[in-house]
Formats: sequence, C-alpha cells, structure tokens
Amino acid sequence: MTFVPSDPAVPAPPALSPAHVAAWQERGGSVFELLGRVREAGPVARVSLGSADAVLVSLPEAVHHVLALHPERYVKRSHRLAPLFGGGVLTAAGEAWRSQRRLLQRYFTGQGIRRFEPAIGGAAERTTQLWERAARTGEVRDLAADLRFYSLDVIWRCLTGRPVTHETYDELRAVDAVISALPVVPRPGDTPPDLTAEVARIDAVVKRTVDEVRAEPSGDGLLRVLLDAEQARHYTEQLVRDELVTLVFAGHETTASTLAWLYLFLDAEPHWRGWALDRGADGVQALVAETLRLYPIAWLMPRYATEDDVLAGYRVRAGDIILTSPWFTHRDPGLWPDPDAFLPDRFTDPARRPSGHGTYYPFGLGPRACLGAQFALREAGVLLERLLPAFVPTLLERPGPAFDITVHPAGPVPATIRRA
Ligand code: HEM
Repeated sequence: MTFVPSDPAVPAPPALSPAHVAAWQERGGSVFELLGRVREAGPVARVSLGSADAVLVSLPEAVHHVLALHPERYVKRSHRLAPLFGGGVLTAAGEAWRSQRRLLQRYFTGQGIRRFEPAIGGAAERTTQLWERAARTGEVRDLAADLRFYSLDVIWRCLTGRPVTHETYDELRAVDAVISALPVVPRPGDTPPDLTAEVARIDAVVKRTVDEVRAEPSGDGLLRVLLDAEQARHYTEQLVRDELVTLVFAGHETTASTLAWLYLFLDAEPHWRGWALDRGADGVQALVAETLRLYPIAWLMPRYATEDDVLAGYRVRAGDIILTSPWFTHRDPGLWPDPDAFLPDRFTDPARRPSGHGTYYPFGLGPRACLGAQFALREAGVLLERLLPAFVPTLLERPGPAFDITVHPAGPVPATIRRA
C-alpha cells in the first residue's frame, strides 16, 4: 500500500512525552541528553520544542531519504552558523549555493587536492618539529591545541599561500566563544546571541589577510580564486569574506577534533597504534574512520521540511525540524555490533561493516555532503603517518565530549611526548 502524506492513516513518529521534556527542562539538561531520550522512542522519533516539532532521524534509509534523495524537501534554512559564515557555501541555499559549490568543487576532488600537498607537508613538518622538541625537553603540550594549530596551518597555507602565524591563530580563537554561544538545535523565532565583538575580531584578521593577498597578484592559494571571482563580479567583497571564514572554520575545527579524539582513543588502547603501523596507510585511515564513527564531529545535521512527506512510514509536516544524526546511527547496535567499542579493524574487513546507504556518514550525504572530505582524510593521514611511528604521547588529562554544534573534547588534552 502506498501512503500519500495527507493520508490520515499515516502515523506520526513516536514522540517523547511532554512530561519527559518538562522534566528535562526543569533539570536544565543538555540537548544531547534530550535527544538520547528521543532516540529511545525510535530511530525516527519526535519531540516538541515549543515553537516547532523536531524529528530525530537515525534510521539509515530515512537519513538517505532526507539528505540524498530529497534535498529539495529538506533544506538548510536560518542556519545556526549564519551569524559567523554569512552567505558562505556551508550556509548558502538555492542557486547561490549551487554556483559557489561549483566554483570550489574542483579544488576538493581527489585530483584537485594534489595541489595542496606542499601545504599539508609543510604544516606536518612544523608539528613534527614541535613534538621533536617536546620529546627532547619533556615539556607538556596541549595536544588539542597542537592539532588545532596544525589543521589551521594547513587550511591557511591552502587559502593564502603562507603559514599561519601564532598571532593569527590566537586572534581566530574568538571562534570558540561563537561556537559555544550558538544554539545546537535551531528553533524558528529564537533571538540569535549577540556575537558582534567576536565576529569583529575575526573580521579584522580576514580583512588584513584579504588586503595582503590582494596586493600580491601572483599567489596561487584558494583566496586568489575567490578574488578572481570577485573581479569577474561573480562574488561580492562580502561574499569573499563569508567564503573565507567558512573555509577557515569548516576546514579546521572538524579535522582538529577528529585528530584529538583519535589520540584519546590510542591513549586508552595503545595496541591500535602498532596495529595501524603494520598496515601502513590503510591502517591509519581505519583509525580515522573508526574515530569518525564514534565521534562524527558534525553530530547533528538539521534540515527544515518544506512540505508534508512520508518518512520511513511516518508523517512529517512542512515546518518540522529534521535532525539527522550520525552519532545515533553510528552507535546503533543493530547496525554496528559492540557499537561503543573502538575497533578500527571494522574498516579493514568489509564483512564487518553494515552495507547500505545511510549507515555511516561522518561527512554527510547527498549534494550538501562535506566539500572537504577527501582533503580532511589526506590532511589527517599525512600528519599521522609522520607522528604515529615517531612519538607516543602520554595524556595527563582525558576530557569528555562537549556537544556543541560540533562534538569536541571539552577541555585541553595535556600530554608529555616520548620518542617511540
Ligand atoms: C574530519 C573532518 C570533517 C568532518 C567530519 C566534516 C563534516 C562535514 C559534514 C557532516 C558536512 C555536511 C553538513 C550538513 O549536511 O549539514 C560538512 C559540510 C561541509 N564541509 Fe566538512 N567536514 C570535515 C572537514 C572539512 C574540511 C577540511 C573542509 C574544507 C577544506 C570542509 C568544508 C566543508 C564545507 C564547505 C561544507 C558545506 C558543503 C555544502 O553545503 O555544500 N570540511 N562537513
């Protein structure tokens, strides 16, 4: 029998009871905690957020339906990151998004990212030297900060053609306040937080950088591509700013957190280091893949339903907020046996991975999937292939997760480093 959305026989998704939501509100619980309860109601389940209904979606075929098969029915709107990213490619919609994505896409294919090898290699060498020194002197390093510096250095070199300075790194940390102030789940009608001061600090760095790169027309970084698009009147000055900010932040916080989680896992289960090294590049990529299964950095990908629909047999109404979540899919015991265990060998044996669309999507799915997925994997691989054989960090603290827009370690990851 085929259901049509208006058919009264189509049931609404199971819902978390209002009493549970009220108790959660009273406790001042986190969004993550609330969604954990919603998930218990089913892999497609509903919760009322006052001004709108949210539907948490972790069932693979439903995730695939939303993100890949019907992106026109489930759109990005009033994006959480819009106060920072403006009209950049991550937050843009419709025709504007399409032409921005078209401009950037060719630099991020398997072939396209080859031009960034020297940038990635240069940044990896810098981090290696830093750890070399730490291994000699015994100084305590904050791994989260070192890995963030590396990821920023990589994207900065790719965009501007030059290494990032410590001053620029410090100035751009204003983003921490932005990320933790933005709502994890966007709700229509919410007043956005006032981020004027933080955004102004970031904009000052961006303006200085754009002026510098504008003054040297021979550069071959991606910022030059954006400036050429501006000259051809495809981009405005504002859009150059928005795109640069988008690429800087989408392009480094995510990879940095992935690498930090990976080191936290290796600290708890050190034998996986030797296991990965025995298998070379494939072993290293399996460590990254398993880290992203357990900590898919973009753990929630919200969409708005533009029309009524039937999703996995349930009714969805126009205006609903749809929360696809790799966090919950990747930890579903029906899909991933022993889901909470860090087992990188799942990714070297195809028989141990669930097949089918929507079972594993740390980089999203469909037309809005991550632009930088191959870039991120290469950038992580190059660094790890240098650091893993040479150094073993001993962690002095092991922060748990903070579930902001991204899931990242809740604090610094101090460690001493010794030569392997
Ligand atoms: C491990 C690292 C990374 C992870 C886990 C990750 C994850 C994601 C995910 C899940 C999305 C889709 C969000 C959605 O559908 O709502 C996304 C989009 C995006 N990512 Fe990444 N990302 C990573 C690294 C990067 C890097 C290195 C870059 C740039 C160099 C980048 C640039 C982007 C952009 C521009 C978009 C928006 C694409 C669009 O809407 O057309 N990401 N990322």
